[in-house]
Amino acid sequence: MFKLNAAALSLMLCVAAALNIHSGAQAPVVTPSAKAHAGEETFNRKCLQCHAVHQGQYSFGPNLEAEMKKPHHKSAAEIGTIIKEGKGKMPGFADKLAPPEIDDLLAYIRTL
Ligand code: HEC
Repeated sequence: MFKLNAAALSLMLCVAAALNIHSGAQAPVVTPSAKAHAGEETFNRKCLQCHAVHQGQYSFGPNLEAEMKKPHHKSAAEIGTIIKEGKGKMPGFADKLAPPEIDDLLAYIRTL
């Protein structure tokens, strides 16, 4: 009997936690942090294979955290153009990402 109650309780806790996360994700206002979070997911799918985002990590392309920490780093408009058109060995993403996805990516990159 106790075992069953414990299982029921943990199930309820899981459901409560899931509902909590769910209602957070459905907030009617798209906050900057929600955009950055969506951008991080896109980044992990499309960009992480070439760009490290943590200090001291290196990959095929520039480490974007190191880039963003530079005092005169690129503006959001310049980064947006690089994402759309590509640069050097980086492919362009104009035909692979919708403008709102690029917006979210920029919000994420600003947090680096
Ligand atoms: C195939 C590997 C590859 C992928 C995928 C890729 N990049 Fe790049 N990226 C590069 C390379 C290489 C450069 C350096 C280009 C140069 O300066 O010649 C670069 C440059 C950049 C720069 C400019 C950095 C600077 O300050 O010089 C930004 C910003 C950037 N990428 C963002 C992204 C984002 C966002 C994505 C995902 C949508 C992405 N990249 C996907 C390889 C890649």
